[in-house]
Amino acid sequence: MEQQPLAQRLALQREYMEKTSQLLSRRYEHPPLALVHSFGCQQNQSDGEKLRGMLAAMGYGFTDRPEQADLVLYNTCAVRENAEDRVLGNVGALKPLKKQRPEMLIGLCGCMMQQEQMAERIRKSYPYVDLVFGTHALYQLPELLFRRLSGEKRQFRGGGEGEIIEGLPLCREGRIKGNLPIMYGCDNFCSYCIVPYVRGRERSRRPGDILAEARQLVAEGYKEITLLGQNVNSYGKGLEPPVNFAQLLCQVAQLPGEFVVRFMTSHPKDCTRELIDTIAQCEKICNHIHLPVQSGSDRILKRMNRRYTVEHYLELIAYARQQIPGVTFSSDIIVGFPGETYEDFLGTLELVRRVRYSTLYTFLYSRRSGTPAAQLEDPVPSEEKSRWFQQLLDAESSIRDQLQQAQVGRVERVLAEGPGRTGEGWLCGRNFSNDIVEFPGSPALVGQFLDVRIERAQNWALFGSLV
Ligand code: SAH
Ligand code: SF4
Ligand code: F3S
Repeated sequence: MEQQPLAQRLALQREYMEKTSQLLSRRYEHPPLALVHSFGCQQNQSDGEKLRGMLAAMGYGFTDRPEQADLVLYNTCAVRENAEDRVLGNVGALKPLKKQRPEMLIGLCGCMMQQEQMAERIRKSYPYVDLVFGTHALYQLPELLFRRLSGEKRQFRGGGEGEIIEGLPLCREGRIKGNLPIMYGCDNFCSYCIVPYVRGRERSRRPGDILAEARQLVAEGYKEITLLGQNVNSYGKGLEPPVNFAQLLCQVAQLPGEFVVRFMTSHPKDCTRELIDTIAQCEKICNHIHLPVQSGSDRILKRMNRRYTVEHYLELIAYARQQIPGVTFSSDIIVGFPGETYEDFLGTLELVRRVRYSTLYTFLYSRRSGTPAAQLEDPVPSEEKSRWFQQLLDAESSIRDQLQQAQVGRVERVLAEGPGRTGEGWLCGRNFSNDIVEFPGSPALVGQFLDVRIERAQNWALFGSLV
């Protein structure tokens, strides 16, 4: 069947939104409650804000307690096996609730559900799940919900193509920090990664739409905007007139207002000197780059299909350090990629010691069926991989300690985000390197940029007081 044009399909969903809203107001005396939980990355969180936006437009209120929810919607992540297990565990825990209250609806969407075999598994083994839809069908929530609420059978919607859907209602999670997707999908096909299969081909939003959303965030009082994409450095492919990520970033940073800009994720193969110069020149862009390296061995990088070398990566880091005073870096690292030897791993350790990341996100390799790496021989036993992993964690924590101790005595600009973990009277926020900073202060200061003198450091945060 040929697909209708996007505008028509969206108009249809708007009709369903209206019909669902009428149906709900007939059925419930008070607004029904929805629980929406996003299990994945920031893109997934950002999708969750659209799901919440559509639900709010249909008349739902929100809760975070499943016992109270009339609809539980889990927005899933497929990046590693433990992410999937966590989702399935949570779905299993809903079974007794559904038994007590059969009218409660359960929906699963997002990356896991874009995989046909997973949708099939839900169909067979989780008969109490009402709605299943993949990433490309996100905007069809109103229709699926309406059909199920009107007594039709369980709704499954998979397949589809990645498109750019503008104009969906949004209900953001926070009031200070806002996510701003600039592109969707990924074309890199790193050999271990499921994302290109569940998110579709890379596509960039138009700069006009992005700038309009950024202006709106600033107007609503947001103080930090994070530009999101799986590989922001390749932003702009296929757009007319041509525009690249450095130019877009600069345009966002030039908007009037008091705010800062972050971005993620940068892929080292597409990170340009122009981008680094832009960060150096624009005051509103944070001096922090998340630049995932994945491995410190050229042999493994090649097998991962990352398309850069350790040497190229270190040159980028050196250039950024030279151009951007005080720049800090964070990275993702995979330990135990199929065929990785202890020697390869030592390369990673060496690289981590040279770069001295302020934050590292470390993962044990997880086999994803359908990816090229899943076919590779993987002879190293998992206990051995875990030992390497621990070695990496130890190195990371000693580097972090040193970096944090070096900040004691300095005055850092901090965006106050909310109550601190230390206790009453404390606030927490983040400095431009994205370190957590705790300090005594009144709740009225939340949402402001403040100067904090760092007095001590403890593994999870820096502590200080207002200047
Ligand atoms: N687009 C981003 C990250 C996407 S996924 C990038 O290219 O960096 C986030 C991180 O999950 C990846 O950086 C990688 O370190 C990790 N990851 C992805 N697939 C994985 C797998 N199969 N096993 C373990 N970690 C994985
Ligand atoms: Fe996955 Fe690589 Fe794309 Fe990142 S760039 S999402 S790791 S395929
Ligand atoms: Fe993100 Fe997980 Fe999907 S990392 S893109 S939610 S597979």
